[in-house]
Amino acid sequence: MARIITIAQQKGGTGKTTLAANLAAAWAADRRVALLDTDPQHSLARWHGLRAARPQAPPAIAFSDTAGWRLAGELDRLRTTQDAVLIDSPPQIDTDARLAIRAADLVLVPVQPSLPDLWAAEGTLALAAAERRPVRLVVNRAPASGRLRETVEAAITAGALPRLASVLGNRVGFAAAFAEGLGVTEAAPRGAAAGELRRLLDEIEELIR
Ligand SMILES: Nc1ncnc2c1ncn2[C@@H]1O[C@H](COP(=O)(O)OP(=O)(O)OP(=O)(O)O)[C@@H](O)[C@H]1O
Ligand SMILES: [Mg+2]
Repeated sequence: MARIITIAQQKGGTGKTTLAANLAAAWAADRRVALLDTDPQHSLARWHGLRAARPQAPPAIAFSDTAGWRLAGELDRLRTTQDAVLIDSPPQIDTDARLAIRAADLVLVPVQPSLPDLWAAEGTLALAAAERRPVRLVVNRAPASGRLRETVEAAITAGALPRLASVLGNRVGFAAAFAEGLGVTEAAPRGAAAGELRRLLDEIEELIR
């Protein structure tokens, strides 16, 4: 049975698609991974297209963009044929996102270090709690230090909001790897972005074990 991870956050541009692609690419090396893109913008589909077109094929990732009334059936199918399923969702809580949260073994909610990102995350945190699904904030694009990062981390602590301890920095490596149809662990395995992603993966694996 596959572990299902849903990446959701109402605010746009917080790193949902980047996170889905990078987790899938890292896991594809040694397990059966599927991506499920429920976002009509289809940027994950395009990343997957770039990946499939690479002359030296990287480890395969199954891909589906089934949405709407066929989503539940597709999830049932993927659950039995894959080891891990990563669901990317649009920047809104729609019916598909609700279903994807309900099906998840873990919900990840990326936030950039800004209060509006954190406020926007509240809806997803509440929905995951209502569905009794484990949920964690992922602080993304964080500067190494600074007042804003401190303010946001303090607000997370003050609200006792669930979060992953590891943080992804603001690193061009994420966009560079994405443009190649790769994850950072493939494009620059010794880079800082790959190191951060691996620490994030260790935490996630602990949670879905
Ligand atoms: N850790 C990071 N460091 C630098 N750039 C990042 C990082 N994470 C994401 N980005 C960049 O931020 C932009 C938005 O990321 P992404 O498309 O993953 O967000 P999203 O939440 O999926 O957006 P949308 O809500 O529109 O679907 C992209 O240009 C991406 O390359
Ligand atoms: Mg996206």
